[in-house]
Amino acid sequence: METARHSIDPAAPDGAAARARLARAAEVLTSGGLVAFPTETVYGLGANALDEAAVARIFEAKGRPSFDPLIVHVGDAGHLGRIARDVPDAARALAERFWPGPLTLVLPRGGAVPHRVTAGGETVGVRVPAHPVARALLAASGLALAAPSANRFAHTSPTTAQHVLDDLEGRIDMVLDGGPCAVGVESTVLDVTRAVPRVLRPGAVTVAALREVLGEVELRPQAAPESAVAASDEPLRGPGLLERHYAPRSPLRLFRGDDPAAVARALARASAELHAGGRTTVALVAAEDEPYLAPDEARVVLGSLDDLTAVARGLYAALREAEARAPDAILARGFPRTGVGVALDDRLRRAAESIEDVG
Ligand code: TXA
Ligand code: MG
Repeated sequence: METARHSIDPAAPDGAAARARLARAAEVLTSGGLVAFPTETVYGLGANALDEAAVARIFEAKGRPSFDPLIVHVGDAGHLGRIARDVPDAARALAERFWPGPLTLVLPRGGAVPHRVTAGGETVGVRVPAHPVARALLAASGLALAAPSANRFAHTSPTTAQHVLDDLEGRIDMVLDGGPCAVGVESTVLDVTRAVPRVLRPGAVTVAALREVLGEVELRPQAAPESAVAASDEPLRGPGLLERHYAPRSPLRLFRGDDPAAVARALARASAELHAGGRTTVALVAAEDEPYLAPDEARVVLGSLDDLTAVARGLYAALREAEARAPDAILARGFPRTGVGVALDDRLRRAAESIEDVG
């Protein structure tokens, strides 16, 4: 199949040209096709959430195992009743505070939602995205859209339309190009079916922000890195939360620690050792690390340690750029676990083949 690419200016999604393109995209979705679209977090691969055959195509296009449930995107919280049931007051309060935005709520599944979406489970993840193109598409189609990140399974999530095409060209009907995503890491996934709500995946909506609304919130414990592949502590609650999930094509070594200079030195030392053995590397670093690197060190600079929002925005593009150079190893630094840094740490750990804690 040929994949159509249509640009939509996020600043003018209701212009005449944009409206015609959105109408075409809505037609594709209504007839069971697949349309990738930008959200504020990453690009999603959308299908009509209530059309089981369309949803099956998502799994096929991505090469995604059927045990990994999908997030359903709706235009506003008023549609919650179509997708979920027994919505607790806490969820309503969260929706009020954080939607539209990068928060997915795991709720009891509504009867109309096919089991294909929820991977057989009795809960469903729902969110209202904030990106103007996503919102315009939801409005134009009038549908609820099941949409995972628009990458091949286990690859890095896409934050541009080109990333989507690099993974899925020829496998999906259309991609709407609304420019690069502002947040850059996937939504916070919060299970609100438990007595104490639990963050299953950290994102830009932080645990601290959730606690302001909910009081008690727990963070899903992360399995030790050595127990890597597919070792979820709660297979039924987050089967897609595979420990090794965002794997770039070259092995990634992650250097974490509280002392920025110590981390930079450890990374530079590892790089020098690899080079001495004839290996190639790409360093994925912060601006502050640059003085520690050899002048000819291949690198992608993610930004300052003081601006984790910018680092998150650029993370997946940087991973793709690093792997495109096909080095023998990618050497990445870790980031402070504050704010969106918790999500950065989570994604880098999942992308890592090995983790070195420094100092
Ligand atoms: O920001 C995002 O959430 C993006 C954009 C496109 O909205 N979507 C996204 O979807 O990241 P995906 O499928 O790549 O990741 C969804 C995660 C998976 O790890 C899945 O296991 C979890 O959410 N999830 C979905 N439904 C769930 C459920 N009912 N219970 C537990 N986890 C669920
Ligand atoms: Mg994904």
